[in-house]
Amino acid sequence: MTPIYLDWNATTPPHPEVLAAMLRAHEHGWANPASVHGPGRKARAHVDRAREAVAALAGAPFEARDVVLTSGGTEANNLALAHVFATPGGALLTSRIEHPSIVRAAEALADRGVVVVWVAPEPSGRIAPEAVAEAIDRTAKVAEVRLVTLQAVNHETGVIQPVAEIAAIAHARGARLHVDAVQAMGRLDPEAWRGADLLAVAAHKLRGPKGIGALVPRPGIALRPLLFGGAQERGLRPGTQDAAAAAGFAVAAERAVDGPRRYAAVAHLRDRLEGGLLRLAPASPPIRNGEAPRAPHVINLSWPGWRGAELCAALDLEGVAVSSGSACAAGTAEPSPVLCAMVGEARAASAVRVTLGEDTTAADVDDALARWARVVARAVR
Ligand SMILES: Cc1ncc(COP(=O)(O)O)c(C=O)c1O
Repeated sequence: MTPIYLDWNATTPPHPEVLAAMLRAHEHGWANPASVHGPGRKARAHVDRAREAVAALAGAPFEARDVVLTSGGTEANNLALAHVFATPGGALLTSRIEHPSIVRAAEALADRGVVVVWVAPEPSGRIAPEAVAEAIDRTAKVAEVRLVTLQAVNHETGVIQPVAEIAAIAHARGARLHVDAVQAMGRLDPEAWRGADLLAVAAHKLRGPKGIGALVPRPGIALRPLLFGGAQERGLRPGTQDAAAAAGFAVAAERAVDGPRRYAAVAHLRDRLEGGLLRLAPASPPIRNGEAPRAPHVINLSWPGWRGAELCAALDLEGVAVSSGSACAAGTAEPSPVLCAMVGEARAASAVRVTLGEDTTAADVDDALARWARVVARAVR
């Protein structure tokens, strides 16, 4: 049975052009990018090209010289928060629907005395700009609000957040905005993160390799490091750079500029799959989690009578790869904290996330629906 991969938000298959570029870099660009000799310069060219490609993907006002290559989205998010709260005090505004690399980092900051304010999402999964404005104004009475951190697209529901509106609110009140754009870049236009002061991106979500990503600050923001060592990445992320990973990231980011067009074409497949799933169990139909605006490739449904993890396991036996939460939370018995915050624990416990990608075909969708129907029909409940 051919597996059908519908978990593109967990990670994406590396693109063949990415793999080819990485192989070439492993063979011919393996020297230390910090070395000043010819082989070192050859390796460094891959690192520089990745920086250029990421800045071009991020769009204005971001610039290549400010891009800090990291080990991925998690490190980029941690670096952003650690930078803003390097000195004691201050307040951070965020929400429980952020990725764990923000939520856990915010909790760690709270342990260190930072005032952390959790803005509740609407049941639709959207963070209301008015709620952010109200929370900043209320918090400003007790501490200086330094940062609002908001994802551009939710990793579990695909809900697109009103980033530009929230940026304007934060800026008018003297706070900065960090945007976790890991699930948005390569899938949506730069409008999705317009107004961000800091941006996090991960190569493996846009068909690049794992283990590399970037934090992109707006020009003029002088970051502080999390790690200390050599002068790589301007001392902000010391340690020998991986030229082959950078070569793959460069190609992935260059391709991703055209990604929104490819993903827009996936929307009708998403609708066809979602429509089919909603009709599969007429006696107790699934309930959709996350309302428009949504990214074009994400479906999140709660299945009454099921535990999400059990349904995923049953689908896996049929060769359909989906997930019951973010890959970072998978393996834990806890229901998705994102859905708990949005729609409560019962719906969260029965949720399954399906994420399509730019290679998903109509045949995949129809085949997945047939296999899903078999699983649902088999269940005696
Ligand atoms: C929204 C979001 N932010 C951050 C991350 C973390 O990225 P990485 O896996 O590169 O550490 C992920 C990964 O799933 C994500 O979905």
